[in-house]
Amino acid sequence: MSANETNTEAKKRILSGIQPTGTFTLGNYIGAIRNWAKLQDDFECLYMIADLHALTVRQVPAELRAHTREAAAMLLAAGINPAESILFVQSHVPAHTQLNWILCCNSQFGELSRMTQFKDKSAKHPDNVNGGLFTYPALMAADILIYNADLVPVGQDQTQHLELSRTVANRFNNLYSPTFHMPEGYITKEGAKIMSLVDPTKKMSKSDPNVNSFILMNDDKDTIIRKFKRAVTDSDGIVRYDAAEKPGISNLMCIYNIFTGKDMEAIEKEFAGKGYSDFKLAVGEAVADALAPIQGEYARYLADKKYVDEVLKDGAEKASYLANRMMSKVYKKVGLLQI
Ligand code: TYM
Repeated sequence: MSANETNTEAKKRILSGIQPTGTFTLGNYIGAIRNWAKLQDDFECLYMIADLHALTVRQVPAELRAHTREAAAMLLAAGINPAESILFVQSHVPAHTQLNWILCCNSQFGELSRMTQFKDKSAKHPDNVNGGLFTYPALMAADILIYNADLVPVGQDQTQHLELSRTVANRFNNLYSPTFHMPEGYITKEGAKIMSLVDPTKKMSKSDPNVNSFILMNDDKDTIIRKFKRAVTDSDGIVRYDAAEKPGISNLMCIYNIFTGKDMEAIEKEFAGKGYSDFKLAVGEAVADALAPIQGEYARYLADKKYVDEVLKDGAEKASYLANRMMSKVYKKVGLLQI
């Protein structure tokens, strides 16, 4: 048994992932990474850089390689501790793709067709509606189920995929006998969906062509403040939380709440009688101050490629041990000859 297994038997297991498709955004940080670091003490955590999922959209190979290492450096900088958690790259654990195939054979065409991310991405890249994009949620289910994860900390946009993981797990368990735990989503009330600064009805996303729509985790203070100053709001000039009528201001309030701990009422009081520009500046400063220490650590990790690679190698070994055990169980259950 691995150290990870013996020491933490009583703890529930967590698995989550992030695509290395560029520098992470404030949305990634608030919706996912921030929680990953917090959960490490109480859970047995596996955190994965989903490089195979990134291939469902065209990538420049050299950039994907660089972004994968940068992603690892950023996760370490944001507080993922390799002494506590298993940090690894998806493609370094081939068992994920093995289980992916089995789960593809247990996912229905209709179920996969209903995924909103598939519909959105197909519309965005009509010249590349590939099979991987279609079966993307089966690979994600494999990521989760191969470790029998109990909890999956994600932002709101991943809930539909998570539901599919549960459907597929359930189907497999009923067909072949109980094998997979039912994973639950861990979605925080605050910050599960951070919106674009340019169009607050849309999710903040690093694939948005307008760079002013997102804050990147390595944007400098001036850039952060400038982007917040430009953020689209409304014309009534009152800092008040109303997600339906005032989505821009409400999004900024949500971000300010995350970094200051002040609730909506306190924020409304703080900015009563003041204009939006004071509020936007305060949000920008709170975000820049919170990201500054992470950026410092990020630079330090990025300069130490050898250390980052060692962490990933160690993570892949520990994850493979767990994943391979599940794989032989699954192969046996579905009737593949084992010699
Ligand atoms: P990805 O790389 O798109 O995003 C990583 C995490 O960031 C969250 N997120 C947000 N949260 C709040 N507001 C936003 N604007 C925002 N944008 C992104 C996402 O919800 C996610 O939690 N399919 C996954 C990666 C993955 C995965 C997995 C996740 C692969 N296998 C297994 C969990 C379990 C994805 O594309 O995330």
